[in-house]
Amino acid sequence: EKGGWPSFMAKEVSEGPEAVANTLRGRLTDHGVDLGELGVLDDEALRGIDRIVIVACGTAAYSGLVGKYAIETWSRVPVEVDLAHEFRYRDPVLDERTLVISISQSGETMDTKMAVEHAAAAGARTLSICNTQGATIPRQSEAVLYTHAGPEVAVASTKAFLAQVIGQLLFGLHLAKVRGTMTDEAIAEVVEELRELPDELRQVLAEQESVHELAHWMSDTRSVLFLGRHVGYPVAMEGALKLKEISYIHAEGFAGGELKHGPIALIEPGQVVFVVVPSPRNQALLHSKIISNIQEIRARGARVIAVAEAGDAAVLPYADVVLRVPLTLPMLEPVLQVVPLHIFALELATAKGLDVDQPRNLAKSVTVE
Ligand code: F6R
Repeated sequence: EKGGWPSFMAKEVSEGPEAVANTLRGRLTDHGVDLGELGVLDDEALRGIDRIVIVACGTAAYSGLVGKYAIETWSRVPVEVDLAHEFRYRDPVLDERTLVISISQSGETMDTKMAVEHAAAAGARTLSICNTQGATIPRQSEAVLYTHAGPEVAVASTKAFLAQVIGQLLFGLHLAKVRGTMTDEAIAEVVEELRELPDELRQVLAEQESVHELAHWMSDTRSVLFLGRHVGYPVAMEGALKLKEISYIHAEGFAGGELKHGPIALIEPGQVVFVVVPSPRNQALLHSKIISNIQEIRARGARVIAVAEAGDAAVLPYADVVLRVPLTLPMLEPVLQVVPLHIFALELATAKGLDVDQPRNLAKSVTVE
């Protein structure tokens, strides 16, 4: 039940820290990662793959885009992300050296299930990252990493997204270790930062009063844009998806570098743009690029709400509002940055008097094509 929360979504957002802790539990060793549960996808099998395709839908696919950056950077195995339904119907190139990773909260999404079946029939290796024990997709995959985020009841996926990202980060570290592409020290550094995430998430959750005010101030808004680069790009798309799903406001997420290739035409005075800002401390170049993007849209009258790292003073002159998250490693930033966006969608839908748990036209588990 809701346990005193006004909605399942509010409850599930508040459970983010526990979800992440549960995904990590039993899988971190002193300085590394232990994924003995991968069974037949053992070290030898993982050394035999030369390509990874992540298949998923909606929020799970956005988590897959975050996973792509991390797995590819760490393991040097090329990774692509495909929407499961697009993958299934385009005759993808697959062989026994391809690992197809499906990501699904429910484990019952028909589009994703069919993509996995197609991959297996073509001889590809299959791994499921799933939140629901014993669901169909993990049962038809060779190996499974359960996210253990706990049941998610609200139609809009929140804590499961965090857990999906964590599951992929763990797999990426494991693959990097197996293939010798990361030093033990580098792996240990990420492991240290992963351990900090639950507490950092609690901090983010404790500091959301400004999001509440923002949502009330914006309850008549007709369109919101989201901008990000690198792993902030999927965060931007996830923020937009959540907003359109539960508040029925037109929202779109863009990669910062795409702005001048089209989307900047949408910017007019008063347009609100959320910008996901990478930490200047460990992503200086990307940070300067996103600041340029902010300057371009501000010059055209946009109002900028930045999601930025706590110590980032450089963003202040450029943003109308700054939502703060603690400093972490670049690949881990999405887990913290997405939370204010989830809360913003929740607060805005609530301010509009909508049923956040049961948005119109949507079902929690899409078991038809
Ligand atoms: C968004 C949302 C959907 C699901 C998508 C995949 O908030 O809930 O986009 O993420 O339908 O569902 P699963 O993960 O169950 O395969």
